[in-house]
Amino acid sequence: PRIAVVGGGESSEHDVSLASAASVRRAVDALRFDVVDLTIGRDGHWSENGEPRTFGQAIDVLQSCSAAFPVLHGPRGEDGTIAALLELAGVPYVGSGVRAGAVAMDKWTTKLVAAAVGVATARGELLERGRTTTTMATPVVVKPVASGSSFGVSLVDDPALLKSAIDEALRFDDRVLVEQLLVGREIDIAVLGRADGTRRVGAPLEIVVRDGLFDLETKYDGSADFRVPAALPPETVTQLERAAVAVYDAVGCAGVARVDFFVTANGIVLNEVNTMPGMTDLSQVPRMFAAVGVSYVELVNTLIDDVLA
Ligand code: DAL
Ligand code: MG
Repeated sequence: PRIAVVGGGESSEHDVSLASAASVRRAVDALRFDVVDLTIGRDGHWSENGEPRTFGQAIDVLQSCSAAFPVLHGPRGEDGTIAALLELAGVPYVGSGVRAGAVAMDKWTTKLVAAAVGVATARGELLERGRTTTTMATPVVVKPVASGSSFGVSLVDDPALLKSAIDEALRFDDRVLVEQLLVGREIDIAVLGRADGTRRVGAPLEIVVRDGLFDLETKYDGSADFRVPAALPPETVTQLERAAVAVYDAVGCAGVARVDFFVTANGIVLNEVNTMPGMTDLSQVPRMFAAVGVSYVELVNTLIDDVLA
């Protein structure tokens, strides 16, 4: 069968997506599927194996494939838009559908959903362009509601710097979240939902960053120290796994999602859900599954099998 791996995209995470998609393509190729490389440029133009294609031609290519494997991070991809395109085109695809993508990309809505299933999130306030006064006391984290890879995110200690942090976040989205800074350990849980309804979790991963913030630079310069499995008491691991699966299901995810937490003195707190998490060789998800004996290629095979079935 032919599998279209769709990467790139118009978001700030374009380059990250290219790296994720390249790794996925290698795995799909190793599984002896025919890989079709579909890439969306920063300007929204599509290409197939490096050759320019009109939007209509790109749809034709997708419809000639048995399934699509979208690996687009951030808005105009991960936010449900690529899922919507594939739904309308009638192409089976790996991963979350329209609703889960849209909900998880919206960090405010994710809080509301998490609260509804009893999973705590940081106290936060929603601002928007034209309504940018916050009542939150520093230290806070200021972030675009819909973004990824920490684009537009600032940690603010000094109230005098709040305005510039909010302006920076507004470069990436019309809505901004101001959240109380959480003090704790940063732990990610990967959840793989199968077509038969079973859920499998990877080993918990702890992110240890030298200067304390897992920001854009430390995400991709290789300096972050990932500890897999994270050294945690078994009861904390159980809590994290239950919360991760509860949030995965409440959001309505499919395929693999990475659910990110802080473990604080007051318990576990959800940070966010990524429905198209980084899949580069440096990324968390492949490492978390490798630690429970599922190789990258097996993970990709499982994801594809479930949509071809
Ligand atoms: N948004 C990046 C790609 C991640 O979650 O891994
Ligand atoms: Mg993210």
